[in-house]
Amino acid sequence: MTSVAKRFRNALLVATFAAGLGTSALAKDASVEVSVDTTAAGPVIDKHIFGQFAEHLGTGIYGGVWVGKDSPIPNVRGIRTDVVTALKALKVPNVRWPGGCFADEYHWRDGIGPADKRRVQINTNWGGVPESNAFGTHEFMDFAEQIGSEPYISVNIGSGTAAEASAWIEYMTAEKDTTLARERAANGHPAPWKVPILGLGNENWGCGGAMSAEHYVEEMKRFSNFVRNFNPAQREKDKMKRIAVGWDGNKLDYTEEVMKAWKDHVYSWDIEGVSLHNYTTGGWPPHLPATGFGNDEYAIVINETLKMDSLIAKQSAIMDKYDPEKKLLIAVDEWGAWLSPTPGSNPGFLQQQNSLRDGILAALNLNIFARHADRVKIANIAQMINVLQAMILTDGSKMVLTPTYHVFKMYVPFQDAQFAPVKFAAGELALGDRKLPRVDAMAAKDKSGQVWVSLVNVDPDAGTSVTIPGFRTASGEVLTAPKVDSINTFAAPSVVAPRAISGKAGGGGVTIALPPRSVTVVKVAK
Ligand code: AHR
Repeated sequence: MTSVAKRFRNALLVATFAAGLGTSALAKDASVEVSVDTTAAGPVIDKHIFGQFAEHLGTGIYGGVWVGKDSPIPNVRGIRTDVVTALKALKVPNVRWPGGCFADEYHWRDGIGPADKRRVQINTNWGGVPESNAFGTHEFMDFAEQIGSEPYISVNIGSGTAAEASAWIEYMTAEKDTTLARERAANGHPAPWKVPILGLGNENWGCGGAMSAEHYVEEMKRFSNFVRNFNPAQREKDKMKRIAVGWDGNKLDYTEEVMKAWKDHVYSWDIEGVSLHNYTTGGWPPHLPATGFGNDEYAIVINETLKMDSLIAKQSAIMDKYDPEKKLLIAVDEWGAWLSPTPGSNPGFLQQQNSLRDGILAALNLNIFARHADRVKIANIAQMINVLQAMILTDGSKMVLTPTYHVFKMYVPFQDAQFAPVKFAAGELALGDRKLPRVDAMAAKDKSGQVWVSLVNVDPDAGTSVTIPGFRTASGEVLTAPKVDSINTFAAPSVVAPRAISGKAGGGGVTIALPPRSVTVVKVAK
């Protein structure tokens, strides 16, 4: 993890501020005017920016998703029912699997066939615990289908071969009567699966083989050449998007080399996107507590997370040099808060609580992705269950939804909606020695023409009000709680839960009172 540590330290040095968040001074008690331009033909906010990430790490899969067919915990074919029900409500567009660092040590054949014959290995990246491979390709595809999501498969470039990756994709997608399609059918799935997104490696500058950018590009080209998707339903439309490894928030060379190679690529290989990984840590190794913090640590985290905007802008600028028409997308396929682990937990399991601060962090990042909708078309929060900034925490049969879950649910209307530019003065909030924007806003028009607005009141102590000119009604939900470090627990699951909110018409607009430390999503009408 040394290189990871270095990148996070250096990431802190990257200068930044979130685009769209103006800093003009604003009296603390003034109402903020948010003008929404619904006439502009903004880019579509791809639903895939609301993607998730489920790695074989800690209890993210085992315990969180997979309990086994004989478990007393209610399940369908081994996949826990409570988690599936909760995730369905998020309309999760895609799930990235099996890693992460785990992906570059994953050999797909270990995870197919009779469960008792599967290879038990050591999960060398995460806690050194036995990995049973009980959850493999069929179980993951079943999980994705049960929650109504699409698979984002990461192939092993670090320790695998192009032949292995090629056979895996054929196993999943071939409909013709091939040996691998027959094997898939014998293992219980005669019909081919769709693989809409394919990751060509993971962090190959670090845990994925510590390759130089030049070396990675040569490997990546070979893999891209041979990973053929045979599903007839993906031949003309829904073509598989291949994502190359890009910038990690510090090093520019991967994105630069990948893009340089792509510009002159020959017919036999291609990619559709380049990844970007960036965690909000407050320094490395992660030491900030997930609970029991005050305004200072709140400000450190919010200030750092807003740097996502300039990181995307930097990666976009490199891509623009080689791809001014923006044919390739950015996949921010690992993002979120990485805090110190829950006391008493295995530190290799990356388990952390999830507070209102995480919910606010999630909303600010989703707003940044929406503002970059012309380039950012995939994003995957790390991770889905029990790991890092999770949607859901489980312990045995118990399950609780986190503040981040609630934000993702409130943002469902933004999936595939058309971005509508907003103008507002964000104001300036001095917290300790950090200056933050007081408010953030983002808007979009859904396919039915309905306009939705997200409003974040960053101020941990003071409420504010927002007026949206030209509209008369606003109704939706607000997420807040008594403190920025308020959390949901198994014993008290609704401390941070959305409640209804509406605006008042008057003075040529609709005014919404935003509580301190809150995320609001409303639909507005004239
Ligand atoms: O999400 C945890 C880890 O963070 C992933 O496995 C790796 O890709 C990144 O360093």
